[in-house]
Amino acid sequence: MALAMGLVPVAGADDHRARINYMIHCQGCHLPEAVGFAGKVPRMNGFAGYFLHSQEGREFLIRVPGVATSSLPDDQLTELMNWLLLTYSAEQLPEPFVPFSVAEVAALRPDLEADPEKTRMRILRQIARGLPSLAVELELISGG
Ligand code: HEC
Repeated sequence: MALAMGLVPVAGADDHRARINYMIHCQGCHLPEAVGFAGKVPRMNGFAGYFLHSQEGREFLIRVPGVATSSLPDDQLTELMNWLLLTYSAEQLPEPFVPFSVAEVAALRPDLEADPEKTRMRILRQIARGLPSLAVELELISGG
């Protein structure tokens, strides 16, 4: 199923450009393969897709400062976010995965998230209530 989602085509999207944009605009903090930096920068690899299990989580991904204030134009930022999710976190995405639209990203960006750390945990805990795999990730319940 994750494989099928990884093949979802997004109109006009350019994976190569998205990859280059990631390297230039995000990788300095998020590191190659979006693995993050423990205690400082969250891991997006194998994780970011969880946020799309709630509308608030979906919006959070665009409203975090590193995304919202990026110098990338709306269309390239949209392309980058969809590429990022499908490349590094396809397995955590909901079914069906609805890619971000340019209009959606453009509308969310100006509404900057003021307290990412606090909002992040509140959203994730809420999603985890209905998603055992995330609860295990967050160590809210034992993975056995
Ligand atoms: C200056 C360092 C830096 C840059 C550059 C940066 N980020 Fe971030 N990013 C962070 C930090 C730190 C967080 C944790 C929340 C916060 O403090 O803003 C974060 C959070 C996020 C989140 C939320 C993930 C989660 O699990 O909470 C996403 C999505 C994200 N960044 C994507 C990007 C993308 C895409 C780019 C490039 C366009 C980018 N970031 C550029 C440092 C950065």
